Amino acid sequence: MTLQFASHVKLRREAIESFDRYPFSLPAVRDLHSLELHPKVTFFVGENGSGKSTLLEAMAVAFGFNPEGGTKNFCFGTRTSHSELHEFIRVVKGFRKPKDGFFLRAESFFNVATEIEKLDREFSFGPRVIESYGGISLHEQSHGESFFALLMNRFGGSGLYILDEPEAALSPQRQLSVLARIHDLVNDESQFIIATCSPILMAYPDSWIYSCSESGLTRVNYYETEQYQVTHDFLSNPERMLRILLGDEAPKP
Ligand SMILES: Nc1ncnc2c1ncn2[C@@H]1O[C@H](COP(=O)(O)OP(=O)(O)O)[C@@H](O)[C@H]1O
Ligand SMILES: [Mg+2]
Repeated sequence: MTLQFASHVKLRREAIESFDRYPFSLPAVRDLHSLELHPKVTFFVGENGSGKSTLLEAMAVAFGFNPEGGTKNFCFGTRTSHSELHEFIRVVKGFRKPKDGFFLRAESFFNVATEIEKLDREFSFGPRVIESYGGISLHEQSHGESFFALLMNRFGGSGLYILDEPEAALSPQRQLSVLARIHDLVNDESQFIIATCSPILMAYPDSWIYSCSESGLTRVNYYETEQYQVTHDFLSNPERMLRILLGDEAPKP
């Protein structure tokens, strides 16, 4: 029996009137029928604007998360700009229900931090919410530190974690630590769905990578991704790339 919490994402195409307007016109949505999710880690990669966040947000909302992020218990909203795509998405669930879950959006993590502070100002018999995030207000840490605290402290295993660009604000060293943390949580029966531009994170081996491009969603291997190829080309010879970008007069780095 598979341990995954979500096995497929399906688009109810018959209910969509027109694919000519946002969000249905995005290539990642326009050609979507049924997408199989990896039981452990599924990555969505692609250029800025290719539709990764729109797709991830719709999956998260279809799974019961707040569109702005957080756990399933968070229901604050500071804007209502999320797309209607979730109404047309069906997430095919597995046999088990996740015991834990988090929808992490780099864009609105600030609001999650504010919500935690608000909850902790309200009277409660239980421990403060922030205790499960490492005990230090997420506003009193750097963006990178607070993200990292969340992953290390709040994520408890047996969970479904939907992460939108978790590498934002993380140093390469911290991204390596996140990779190790993802591995621990996967071994603890968790499932991840991650949109990322990080060639470090998408190297996680027990995963599938879907590339979002003009031709829709295609499964690619790690070495085929543009993120790997561009980073590899640059780092293997920065001077050559700088000459191409800046001209022959480019100073050495
Ligand atoms: N409310 C909206 N109305 C129309 N277009 C939108 C809206 N929100 C986002 N878009 C467009 O949809 C595209 C995909 O956005 P997004 O899913 O955020 O991309 P990614 O996360 O891959 O960078 C972008 O080109 C963006 O301009
Ligand atoms: Mg995005």
